Amino acid sequence: MIVVDGGRPLVGTVRASGAKNAALPAVMASLLTTDPVVIENAPRLLDMDTALTLARTLGKEVGQEGGTVRLCGGDELAQVAPDALVQRMRASFLALGPLLARTGEVWMPLPGGCAIGPRPVDLHLRGLACLGAEIAVDGGVVHAKARQLRGSTVYLDYPSVGATEQVLLAGALAEGETVVVNPAREPEVVDLTRLLSAMGADVVWHMDRVVIRGRLELGGATHRLIPDRIEAGTYLLAGAITRGTVTVTGVRPDHLDALLAKISQAGVEVAVEEAAVRVAASARPHAVNVQTGPYPGFPTDLQPPVVAFLCLAEGQATVTETVFESRFGQVEALVRMGARVRVSGNTAITEGVSGLHGAAVQATDIRAGAAVVLAALAAHGRTEIRGGSHLARGYEDFVGKLRGLGATVWEASEP
Ligand code: EPZ
Repeated sequence: MIVVDGGRPLVGTVRASGAKNAALPAVMASLLTTDPVVIENAPRLLDMDTALTLARTLGKEVGQEGGTVRLCGGDELAQVAPDALVQRMRASFLALGPLLARTGEVWMPLPGGCAIGPRPVDLHLRGLACLGAEIAVDGGVVHAKARQLRGSTVYLDYPSVGATEQVLLAGALAEGETVVVNPAREPEVVDLTRLLSAMGADVVWHMDRVVIRGRLELGGATHRLIPDRIEAGTYLLAGAITRGTVTVTGVRPDHLDALLAKISQAGVEVAVEEAAVRVAASARPHAVNVQTGPYPGFPTDLQPPVVAFLCLAEGQATVTETVFESRFGQVEALVRMGARVRVSGNTAITEGVSGLHGAAVQATDIRAGAAVVLAALAAHGRTEIRGGSHLARGYEDFVGKLRGLGATVWEASEP
């Protein structure tokens, strides 16, 4: 459980960690070779621990020293992925493409749905089938076979981050060229292609497609992960919601354009430096409407925190979630803290209030949990947030970094 005594502005500087959603596919990319893959700026997170446990279980030698992870070996990779790890973390499913490319036959459990939606993997499987894989799903397990994957054109009905990464990972060891039409263009996907190129694949991005020319053998590489734009955006919103002044360093400001545009429109002062962003919110911000979408649209992972921010802004705002089916898990907790917000279909409508009060609340997933923490930092009084382990999945040293900004927050054992 996380306990917050809120009601004071956050002031100070915090450094962004490496991007969780770039780190996880990078670990899966290491399955494509037996040479050493060194991942630098790796975040210390529960999800990263899960990904490294999976890599070890599948046959990789894994070493970790601070923010540097080294994966090598794996001459003989396992062909069955453990269900417990796939259910614990959906990104484990990205091991399917690499394992199939390396071993020719894989049994991979389907990842379950979660708090934000059913999260099917039909685009992943259709993509692999385009590359020549025989795919069957039986009793919740994907059975995939392919003697040799062959490059092909894969059209994605939706620019799915995971499906794009899945096809790129498999295409890296496929014969010939794989063209992904309508790919996801999130910075984390581009970061994966930087790693695959360093490993010997040839990747070229175009306006509407990304083309990867695979190799029969890939080498190792040393790869420094991009900073986590979602973590950085969460701290910027923490500064804004508490009317403080917060600087986040070690960021790529160009990965934060949508958020910075929105909080600037709301009246928050935003200053961008080369690798840092500072927000200052002395006056009460006013409400702005937000709609999430594929990159460079407003990131769905910052939708829960921005709803919390808008609950204290002046006026009415609508926040439309177009990426996931049911991603308003934070709303119930915000209402318990005095917010006036309701959900109609895939839109949250906020009526700004002048203040929130502490309460006992539940975090339902990583980003909803972050939203509730932000509300608690601004609220008067004490908030007890159960489900704090969700936060440790996606935010490195969340409590420590918030305390570094002057927050009164600590972890307590769940009663
Ligand atoms: C990635 O999830 C991220 N996770 C998510 O971050 C992020 O919210 C999401 O991309 C969108 O940006 C990682 O990178 C590990 P999608 P992913 O495939 O790949 C539908 C966080 O908190 N879809 O782009 O699962 C799907 O149901 C997490 O860090 C299909 O229909 O996202 C959803 O509605 C949460 N069929 C939409 O596409 C498929 O085969 C976007 O999903 C695949 C996806």
